[in-house]
Amino acid sequence: FKPKPLAGRRVLMTAGPTYEPLDPVRGITNISSGKMGYALARALRHAGAEVQLVSGPVALPAPAGVERIGVMTAAEMHLAVMQRVAHADVFIGVAAVADYRPDDAAEHKIKKTGEAPVIRLARNPDILADVASLPAAPFCVGFAAESRDLESYARGKLEAKRLKLVVGNLVQDGMGGDTNRVVLFDAAGDHPLPAASKDEVAAGIVAHLARMLDA
Ligand code: C5P
Repeated sequence: FKPKPLAGRRVLMTAGPTYEPLDPVRGITNISSGKMGYALARALRHAGAEVQLVSGPVALPAPAGVERIGVMTAAEMHLAVMQRVAHADVFIGVAAVADYRPDDAAEHKIKKTGEAPVIRLARNPDILADVASLPAAPFCVGFAAESRDLESYARGKLEAKRLKLVVGNLVQDGMGGDTNRVVLFDAAGDHPLPAASKDEVAAGIVAHLARMLDA
C-alpha cells in the first residue's frame, strides 16, 4: 500500500485565459486552451490533494473531484484567489492572465461611426506575485510560456516573483495541443521532463512537487 503523495495538501490553482471586455460583445484575451492546467488539476487530485481550480473561460469539463470556480476577468480571478488563499498549502498559477484590460469598457456596443476608436489599457494585478508576497504565502509555483530564451525568463520569474518552482515551456511545444515538453526550474537546478501527453507531464510535475513538499 502506497499512500497518496499529496494526501492532506490543499492546492489552490488558476488555469485558462482571462477575458477582458471592451464592450458587451467584444474583448481582449490571451490564448490558452486550459488543457495543461486541467491536466494538472486532475493529477493533483489523483495524488490525493484537495484542489480548488479558479478557471477562466475554457471549453473543458470540470475535473472530477475538483472544485471549479469560474471567472472571466483577471480582476475576478484575483479576487477569487485572494478569498481562498488563506486555506491553501500550495498555490499554482497556470492561467494565462491578460496583463492589461481596456481601461474603460463601454456599457453599450461600440458602433463603427466616425474615427477608429483608440483603446486605452490599464494594468491588471499579477495574481501569482501578489500571492507569493503575502506574509503567510503558500508554496508558490508559476508557469512560464516563452517563445525563446526559456531558461533565463523562467529563472527571472523564479526570483522576481519569489517562487519555489517554475514550470517552463516553449509555446511552440505546447500551446493548444495535447502534448507538451517542460523544464522544471527550482533552487536546486534545471529538471527537464520528457516530451509527453499533458497528463503525463502533469504527473511528472506532481511527482516533483511532492518531493519538494516532503523535503
Ligand atoms: O510574468 P509572466 O506573466 O510571464 O508569469 C507567468 C506566471 O505568472 C504564470 O504562472 C501566470 O499564471 C502568473 N501570472 C499571474 N497574474 C498575472 C500574470 C501572470 O498570476 N497578471
